[in-house]
Amino acid sequence: MYPAYLEESIHIVEDTRVRRLIESIPRLNELEKADLLQQFHPDYIKSSMRRLLVGVNKGDATPVELADLLEGNSRIDPEKIDPSRPDYNVDVLVIGCGGAGASAALLAHEQGARVLVTTKLRLGDANTVGAQAGTQAADRPNDSPAIHYLDTMGGGHFDNIPELVEVLVKDAPSAIRWLEKLGVNWDKDKDGSMHELSGGGTSRRRLHSARDYTGLEAMRVLRDELKNKKIDYIEFVPAVELILDDRGQIAGAILLNLETEELIIVRARAVILATGGIGRLHIQGFPTTNHYGATADGLVLAYRAGAELIFIDTMQYHPTGAIYPLQILGQLVTEKVRTLGAQLTNLNGEQFVMPLEPRDVVASAIIRECRERGLGLRTPHGEVGVWLDSPMIDIMRGEGTIARELPAMVRQYRRYNIDITREPILVYPTLHYQNGGIKIDTEGATNVPGLYAAGECTGGVHGRNRLIGNSTLDLFVFGRRAGRAAALYAREVKRGSPTLEHVRRWQQELEKAGLARERPLSPRLLPDYTRRGHSHARQEI
Ligand code: FUM
Repeated sequence: MYPAYLEESIHIVEDTRVRRLIESIPRLNELEKADLLQQFHPDYIKSSMRRLLVGVNKGDATPVELADLLEGNSRIDPEKIDPSRPDYNVDVLVIGCGGAGASAALLAHEQGARVLVTTKLRLGDANTVGAQAGTQAADRPNDSPAIHYLDTMGGGHFDNIPELVEVLVKDAPSAIRWLEKLGVNWDKDKDGSMHELSGGGTSRRRLHSARDYTGLEAMRVLRDELKNKKIDYIEFVPAVELILDDRGQIAGAILLNLETEELIIVRARAVILATGGIGRLHIQGFPTTNHYGATADGLVLAYRAGAELIFIDTMQYHPTGAIYPLQILGQLVTEKVRTLGAQLTNLNGEQFVMPLEPRDVVASAIIRECRERGLGLRTPHGEVGVWLDSPMIDIMRGEGTIARELPAMVRQYRRYNIDITREPILVYPTLHYQNGGIKIDTEGATNVPGLYAAGECTGGVHGRNRLIGNSTLDLFVFGRRAGRAAALYAREVKRGSPTLEHVRRWQQELEKAGLARERPLSPRLLPDYTRRGHSHARQEI
């Protein structure tokens, strides 16, 4: 239930609906977009970034919160650990088990590899389960991987690595079929064909969804399949360091049992990092859509082992994070709401941006509306945002559309006595995704032999701005590729002697740069809410 003063504002929004039914908001041209991003996108706030002082990406800028962890101190003492006495000995170790990790484990297993999956929280507890809108794949007669490629490159400001995008769009239809064969219930039209929608920056309808809990549905099936295939997994056991060998190849990892605090040594011929995102670092104080474990662990582990990172200065702020009620601050209000017809309005009920521009553009327009034009609304707790006029969906597409297409969103708000079929939603950008990450090739291989990566912890696929539905697609496509490639690599590799020499060298480098005392232990493993207090972006409005 909204307080009375917001109810009054809702009446203004209602009064403008008839006009907005026929109104069309022009798309911005490239110059207008560039100017908007430059002025209002959080990535462009120079003081929020700093250049790395050590490691492979020395000199590159990244948000200070991530820089501190990338330059962090190891959690282990290499003098006290003998990496040649493993607790587990496997072909492929998969670190992380969201969509990418699970896909990788299944494909590595299919190739006959002995696979161990380790995950920081519960199996499948990852950003994947929060993915709502869908998965892109060009499989309709009026669409093609080439058109999907152009949309993806355009969304990423043509900074994406072209070969990665090519693989993403070409593998997409088969990834959808693979998931369907495993048991994913994609939404279908009456004739049995896929029910597909469009989204911000997509020029065709190619979003495959399971209502508004697509990631949860995919993860349900992948998790089940891991168990069917009897793939070994351990839970509540994050990785704290990688192990190399004296040839500079990957040789395994050191894990930490969160319950007993014991270290576990895994010898592996290949390692796949699938540790997901970084939202819980709350870059610039933003709230986040991300799950509790999203603390950039994979980036830290890879970086310390010598893997190159890419585009680490670009984050995605999802335009529509919830700002009311406070209990769901920062949570995702899926782009599917806009896809279906909801419009963004300021306090006067005026549209100020075409709602299906790419995400970075829409987020910047919302920030401008609130910060520069002062046309946002303030919640009782001091958050400022704009209206997402969800009832327009049923007005345009017929009564019952919201209930059918967005059941999770309806339930989420009903808990707080807000009926999104009749009342609009208050939103502001929320930290959603890291566009950059570990640099990979088309098989998920990093520059460290035997080290693979897949999913949100990687960079290059999405350039500087990811499109809706390309994230879950990335997980399945590159998870599968990395799993297969790692298993083949594991078959061939000539192993050396395991060593933690790179950790010693890292600590020496930190000492030499005068950073060892200042920097925290990393990887972070879990977010720290004790020190941070309640500070986020709204304070600047
Ligand atoms: O808006 C969403 O449902 C998010 C989708 C995505 O990040 O791809």
